[in-house]
Formats: sequence, C-alpha cells, structure tokens
Amino acid sequence: MTSATQPIDLNMASAQTPDNKTLSVVVLAAGQGKRMKSALPKVLHPLAGKPMLAHVFAAAAQLFPDKIYVVYGHGGEAVRAAFMDQPLVWIKQDPQLGTGHAVLQALPQLPSTGITLVLYGDVPLIRASTLAKLAAVAHQHTLAWLTMTVANPDGLGRILRNHQRRGDDEGKGQVIGIIEDKDATDAERTIHEINTGFLACPTVLLKKWLPQLGNRNAQGEYYLTDILALAVAEGCAVQTLSPDTEFEIAGVNTKEQLAQLERIFQHEKAERLMSAGVMLIDPARFDVRGELTTAEDVTIDVNCIFEGRVHLDARTKIGANCILRNCKIGEGTEILPFSFIDGAEIGQHARIGPYARIRPDTTLADGVHIGNFVEVKASIVGSGSKANHLSYVGDATVGENVNIGAGTITCNYDGANKHRTVIQDNVHIGSDVQLVAPIVVGKGATIAAGTTVWKDAAAGELTLNPKIQATRPDWTRPIKKP
Ligand code: UD1
Ligand code: CA
Repeated sequence: MTSATQPIDLNMASAQTPDNKTLSVVVLAAGQGKRMKSALPKVLHPLAGKPMLAHVFAAAAQLFPDKIYVVYGHGGEAVRAAFMDQPLVWIKQDPQLGTGHAVLQALPQLPSTGITLVLYGDVPLIRASTLAKLAAVAHQHTLAWLTMTVANPDGLGRILRNHQRRGDDEGKGQVIGIIEDKDATDAERTIHEINTGFLACPTVLLKKWLPQLGNRNAQGEYYLTDILALAVAEGCAVQTLSPDTEFEIAGVNTKEQLAQLERIFQHEKAERLMSAGVMLIDPARFDVRGELTTAEDVTIDVNCIFEGRVHLDARTKIGANCILRNCKIGEGTEILPFSFIDGAEIGQHARIGPYARIRPDTTLADGVHIGNFVEVKASIVGSGSKANHLSYVGDATVGENVNIGAGTITCNYDGANKHRTVIQDNVHIGSDVQLVAPIVVGKGATIAAGTTVWKDAAAGELTLNPKIQATRPDWTRPIKKP
C-alpha cells in the first residue's frame, strides 16, 4: 500500500496496454440544490455563461473518456434536455440515498475493464490535469483519491491516517479511511485534510466494493467514501493526491458560492490574457463568457463582457461598458463605450460607438464609422462609409464612401415581409430620410434632407420630395392660461 501526495508522472498512463485503458466517467448530479433557492436545477446554473455541468463535461472530455455517465435525480429532466445533443449516458437515481448509492446506479452499465473516475456536477472548476493524475494512478490498479489540507474543513469528510502528524507532510501516516463530519468525533474534526470527493478506481474493484456498502451512519446514507476503508481492509493499494489549487475542488451550494467561483474563473482568464499581452484596464471588471482570442496590443477598458466566440485583432481598443458577442474586430478598430456588437465582422480602422448597436449578420468593411444611437442589422457596409447619428440600417447593402445622415431609417418591414435597401457607392443621404425598401439608391446619388424615398433614386442626381416652406405673419404663439 502506498500513500503519497507527490505529483504523478502522466506518462504512466500511456505506458498501459490499450485493452486496459478504458476510462469511464461518472458525474454525480442528482442533488436538488435546495440552497440555490431556484426553480432551475443547480447544475444548470451558469458559470462564465455556460452551465456548471458543462464545465465538468469539458474537463472530463480532455481525458477522452470512453463514456460519460450522468447520475441525475429529481427535476433532472431539464438537465437531460439541456444536453440532448451530447453523447451522454443518463442514469436516474430515485430516491437519492447517498453518494455510494448514486455511483451504484451506474455500476451495471460500466464496462469491467479499465477505470472509473467520479466527478461532481456542482464542482465545476476541476482541472483536467488533476483528473489525469488521478486516472494515471488508478491505471496502476490503485485506488486514487483526491484529498486536500484546507484551513476550514467544517462540514467535510476527514481523511483518517494510521498516525496523524499534522503540519508534517513527509511524516503523514497511511490513509485508512474517511469519516464524514456528522459521524466524526471532536478529535477527528480537528483534522484539516479533507475528502474532495474526486476519485479514480479500477472498475472491477468498484464493482466488488460498492454493493458491500451499508448505511449505518449518522445520515442513514450509502457513503461512497466507505470504499476507502474496504480497499484498505483488502490490502489494496491506495494513493492520495492533491490538486494545485483549492478552487478546483470548491463545490457550489449557494448563489454566493457560485458568484465566488465566477470571480475566480474570470480572474484566471484575465491573468492569462494579460500575460499574453492584452491590456486590461481593470482585470476585476472584465468578463469572458465564451472564447476570447486576441492579437498584440489590444486594450480593453472596464466592464466589458465577451460572449460566444470573439476575436480582437492587433491594436483594437474596446471602450468601457461594451458587450461583444460572436464577432471579429479588425486591426486598429476602436469600439467606443456602451456599444453592443452581436454577430458581426468588422474590418480594420473602423470606429464604432459610443452607444452603437450592431446586430447579427452584419459586415462592416475597413474604415466604417457607426456613431451614437445607430442600429445596424443584417447589413453589409462598404469601406469608408459612415452613419454617425441616430439611424436604423437594416437589411441593407451599402457601398463605399456613403454618408448616411442623422436620423435616416431604412423602412425594411412592410408589416409582413422584410425587404432590402441597396445604397450604391458615393451616395450622400441627408438627415431624416426614410428609404422605403425594396429600393435602390444609385451610385453617386444625393438625397435631400427629410425625403421619403419610395422609388429607386437616380444615380448621380438629387432626389427630394418637394415641400413648400411658408411664413404665417398672422400666427401668434399660444399663451398658457393662468
Ligand atoms: C460529500 C462527501 C464528503 C466530502 C464532500 C465534498 C460522501 C459520503 N461525502 O459530502 O466526504 O467532503 O462531499 O463536498 O460522499 N449526490 C447524488 N446522489 C446522492 C447524494 C449526493 O448525486 O444520493 C451528489 C450531489 O448532487 C453532489 C455530490 O453527490 O453533487 C455530493 O453530495 P453532497 O450531499 O453534497 O455530499 P456531502 O454530504 O457534502
Ligand atoms: Ca456538499
């Protein structure tokens, strides 16, 4: 029997013969999560924009498991539905009689070859590298258990060793069992080495031990933790390992804990981006809910949120309070404060905002200027074109070097269908113009201010709606009655 916490050589796993390398992953997710005080199942609560459970699957997937088995319970249909597109094996646990009982439900479906790794749907920040270490140990026909010495062990299972010499890792005794907090003596409660819950075990051994579990304990539950004592009793090799950081093993029971993990996650992201050369004006006010990639000398001001897949090319500047979702921003482009960009590709040296809204299926070429309170939707705008103030440009194809005056609206919707507006190169549109689609404004045309354009406008000509300006000398401004 070995009992050590030193790092394990990952190459050990690859030294195994292929037939014995089956990796089954069991994710426990049957708990109701009452303390979240929510109708949404706990494991579906989002962390960095995706369900906690999705983070666990992502960590597991990095180990290329044979199959992922998810033990779900009460209200779990919503959990299943959220991951319908994924190749998971769903196992219902009803009633829920403890962690040992939960894994027992999956047992008949697990192949007897290889190892099983047990993960938790509400412990989302576990790292694949830590799981790989556990798996490597288990592949040596050893029960691998993740433990950690923490400052506050309250409420957690404690690791029992055959002699406890706290504060002296070298002299740690051999692990002999786990005692739950509710079953522990006062002396045992002083132990700071806790059970994280994570373990990897040769599946044959799990099949042997799990059915032997009893529930004669303070909670009347079948404790998964009791297999450790069974392993020791049989003289089976047991090895404990520890993760690099405490947040990896942090479980979420309350919204407060979820918010804490969110900040840890974002802090890690921010550090990684800064070390790659991104200037974050304040890393504490920065959120990535997806995948953000960057080139050199990108600057991001405070309170920006990045969702989905976002790429920022070299020397882009993102102003304060912007939301960027599924977009690509070209080199040297500046997004000014309070802009919302969703599903767009923007060229180089463009200037967007402040207060701009760019909606899906929009492509803005190099040097485009979109100013305040301008909404652009499903449109293509050619290089050097500008819409600087208070406009709606929807379902439009705009050529190069077009100027769209303040308050111009593309009237794309007739109440039943959407129609396109085509504005060719070098068009100048005055302020407060309505372009009633479908319509074409010809190359080099000028549209006078206040014009409602309902027929195609001739290229190179001035189009206007004749209006008469009059003066009424007999008119007086009304006076407020006393
Ligand atoms: C468990 C461990 C404890 C450890 C702690 C770490 C046991 C007996 N105890 O305690 O040693 O320190 O986790 O957080 O394992 N679950 C099911 N079905 C069940 C019961 C639980 O799926 O019938 C799931 C829960 O959804 C949760 C996880 O298992 O994700 C742990 O359950 P929980 O009740 O939080 O375990 P603890 O009593 O906190
Ligand atoms: Ca718990």
